[in-house]
Amino acid sequence: MDSSKIIIESPGRINLIGEHIDYNGGYVLPGATDLIIQFTFSNSKKNYSEVYSSVIDKKCKIYFDNLSKRVTRWENYLVGTLISILKKRKVELKNFNCLIEGNLPLGSGISSSSSLICGFTKGVDKLNNLNLDNDEILSISREVEYNFIGLKGGIMDQFTIINSKKNNLILLNTKDNSSDFIESDLGDYKLLLLNTNKKHNLSDSAYNKRVEECQEALRIINDSGHNIKFLTQIEVEELRKIQNLMPNNIFNRALYVNQENNRTIKSVQYLKNLDLKSLGELMYSSHEGLRDLYEVSCDELDYLVDKTRVYDQILGARMMGGGFGGCTINLIHKDFIGIFVDDVSESYSSMFSLKLSPIITSLGEGLRYKV
Ligand code: GLA
Repeated sequence: MDSSKIIIESPGRINLIGEHIDYNGGYVLPGATDLIIQFTFSNSKKNYSEVYSSVIDKKCKIYFDNLSKRVTRWENYLVGTLISILKKRKVELKNFNCLIEGNLPLGSGISSSSSLICGFTKGVDKLNNLNLDNDEILSISREVEYNFIGLKGGIMDQFTIINSKKNNLILLNTKDNSSDFIESDLGDYKLLLLNTNKKHNLSDSAYNKRVEECQEALRIINDSGHNIKFLTQIEVEELRKIQNLMPNNIFNRALYVNQENNRTIKSVQYLKNLDLKSLGELMYSSHEGLRDLYEVSCDELDYLVDKTRVYDQILGARMMGGGFGGCTINLIHKDFIGIFVDDVSESYSSMFSLKLSPIITSLGEGLRYKV
């Protein structure tokens, strides 16, 4: 291996349960996928840097003295990352060539964008000996998505991508960002993702609207005499008492957030007791909440979840990630995967004229520097 090359691997993230509550001070239960984006960096003598992604077969040139917003979204992730790094470290960066490869599907609710930003940050860090620690990489990547891209998301994706451990989920308390590793023993069961291949564009979608609706719920709750910082801090019974003060959709969002937070806490217990059946039931309830109360599902996701309900070999299924497309996550017996995938793929494509991509995933390591 050429010693002047730097190789970084950055995973995607799955989320077993705890959706859309990482910006509400909730508990979430994500982990890294074994699917990755790989970056190969090398120094360049040119007066610009060049990034080529073999995944989308696109190239882009970057001049450090002109880091302005681009029209192309993936280029903005790169430019935004460099701006954020330069805010943190006032240094002159070296020009580089960067090759992006990998098997992490894009725009599928598995957090390919955060994976891109985190991996790119780590590569630039290594190339320039910036010695960024994980918290700094976290804050750089958060800033890119929040301010530069404009997705007002929570901390779950970046935290998971940076900190994950093989075969572990992370119980992340987004009130204070404290976390515990939860060893995940699924026995004969596997996590199967079904990618709808319906593309979503989170920042253009209703994601930010949901964030605002949660803020509105919080405002109404506090105006009614409570004093809470996060929406997850009110009990469901309390919330019901002030339901008449809120528009229906705002009440539904708040109700979902509280129920989902409780589900995540229970899930950890079920996981520890190896009670996968009860865990699966919570996954179904999570989906119903996301569909009916939080309204971030879509026909394709609902169809895939409904398809699983008749099979005893599938313990639970739900949409995963921001929603409006992307993947479902299924807790399925390993011997049943082939039969189910054949069955559902055919009916899905005839129903929606879209190809279904199954992904059997295990829990992988977080962001890493290979060489
Ligand atoms: C996106 C966001 C996360 C989280 C999920 C939904 O992936 O980036 O912060 O809110 O949606 O749980």
